[in-house]
Amino acid sequence: MKGKNTARTLVSIMLNEEVHVNEVLKKYPPSIRENLLDILHDIQESDPHHYLSNEALTAVATHLGMDLAEIKGTASFYSMFSFTPRGKHVIRVCASPPCQLLGASTVLDKLIDTLAVKEGETTADGLFTLETSSCLGLCGVAPVMMIDETSYGNLTAARIVEIIERIRREDETS
Ligand code: FES
Repeated sequence: MKGKNTARTLVSIMLNEEVHVNEVLKKYPPSIRENLLDILHDIQESDPHHYLSNEALTAVATHLGMDLAEIKGTASFYSMFSFTPRGKHVIRVCASPPCQLLGASTVLDKLIDTLAVKEGETTADGLFTLETSSCLGLCGVAPVMMIDETSYGNLTAARIVEIIERIRREDETS
């Protein structure tokens, strides 16, 4: 019975994934390779687990008339793309030198401690994935992190805890 339910869940995940990938592809004319990065970005953003599955990449390859290997090669060049499922919120801590000089490692340590995960991991409740990134373009307010599309600068340990707690509260009430 359990196996049957697991199989049903897997089929439902695959169908949902196919729907969201098709929705994105509909917005782009076929065979226009210049749209590749925009397509990958849209698919990743619209995926509830913020990643590019093999099935999604295969659908993109077919849509653009490109080799799957070529698409994987291009996508893997950019750190913003993930090939494994991530949490509902993706935290990216800037690890470039200006932020490092102003305490980026303290930011990362505080997040590791607060979320009880290592860099690259997702919290047990699936809410946060913790990653590092190169310069986020906000060096003037270093140290910096982004959570999803929102940037946070001038970070302190207390502010990090406050931000994480606020997001947790908002998620509980939404
Ligand atoms: S070095 Fe961190 S935002 Fe630029």
